[in-house]
Amino acid sequence: MKAITLAKAGGVENLVIKELPVPTIKDNEVLVRVKAISVNPVDAFVRGNEGALKAILQLKEGEQPIIIGWDISGEVVATGNAVTQFNKGDEVFGMVNFAGHGKAYAEYVAASESHLALKPANTSHEEAAAATLAALTAWQSLVQYAKIKAGDKVLIHSAAGGVGHYAVQIAKHFGAYVIGTSSAAKKDYVLSLGADKHIDYTQQRFETVVTDADIVLDAVGEPGHLDRSLDALKPGGRIISLLIHFDDNFNAKAKTKEVYAKRLSVVSNGAQMADIAALLEKGDLHSHVSHTFNFDEMPLAHQQVATGKTQGKIVVVV
Ligand SMILES: NC(=O)c1ccc[n+]([C@@H]2O[C@H](COP(=O)([O-])OP(=O)(O)OC[C@H]3O[C@@H](n4cnc5c(N)ncnc54)[C@H](OP(=O)(O)O)[C@@H]3O)[C@@H](O)[C@H]2O)c1
Repeated sequence: MKAITLAKAGGVENLVIKELPVPTIKDNEVLVRVKAISVNPVDAFVRGNEGALKAILQLKEGEQPIIIGWDISGEVVATGNAVTQFNKGDEVFGMVNFAGHGKAYAEYVAASESHLALKPANTSHEEAAAATLAALTAWQSLVQYAKIKAGDKVLIHSAAGGVGHYAVQIAKHFGAYVIGTSSAAKKDYVLSLGADKHIDYTQQRFETVVTDADIVLDAVGEPGHLDRSLDALKPGGRIISLLIHFDDNFNAKAKTKEVYAKRLSVVSNGAQMADIAALLEKGDLHSHVSHTFNFDEMPLAHQQVATGKTQGKIVVVV
């Protein structure tokens, strides 16, 4: 099979297509013939950063070949002896083995059945591959940890990006009032996702516009941004940070405000993938794929995601 290997951390030229044996599956795994892969900021981060590569992929000393990527959609072509949920021929999607060595940049992927869900028939492989790491992050942030409910006022930063565009739609599905931030060029896009209000973060300090949010989802790594998000929250609110780890000042301020604060690291979860599949099937959730690349164009996909300006998601077809 063809796979995109990474001999060592570095530039996009280190992503090299090689011919490798099709992976063997364990009892609890299925073999997926991959049709589409999605690319996230973390893919470019681990490709370019040796420490992150080793830590996030949890590599053993000298482990080769390294195949990065986690987000797939495709067809089950073989099942392990203990697999109960899927059969040969099923179309499935999911975030495989995150954090861990997902080995998703390949024609065939061995995936634990507990990381997958059935792909809805109304969703293409490209759209399904997109709705994996980014959609799971939005789901785990808003549903699992922030316990979103109808009537909540929710501030979603980076609302036009991969995570944000799913978060806006999931929050609306739960009946929340949604405020999304982006630059002015993406205002109409953010509102088209269902957001009730838009803030152009380049023109306004969001914490002067919103001071009583029930929930803030913060995916911005700028210094001071998370503290400002705390100011946008009402006492007793919930804040989820995707990038910044909490320091003593933040913890003290959050405690005074009686805020629930969580630094989230997304994890593979097939049951939550099934929840996401149900929303896709119902039409309450859509993947907006703004760039589609061929398998041999993975370096271009990495360059696009590294801009930090992507609208919706980036997908590579296999
Ligand atoms: N902890 C976790 O488990 C976890 C999981 C997933 C993602 N993440 C992290 O969360 C971040 C977002 O991920 P993603 O996949 O959504 O990234 P993405 O798709 O690359 O996000 C791009 C979007 O971010 C927007 N943006 C950039 N700076 C902004 C700002 N200051 N305020 C508001 N919007 C801004 C851009 O809009 P404009 O062009 O309008 O600026 C762009 O549309 C990444 O850093 C990623 O690594 C963490």
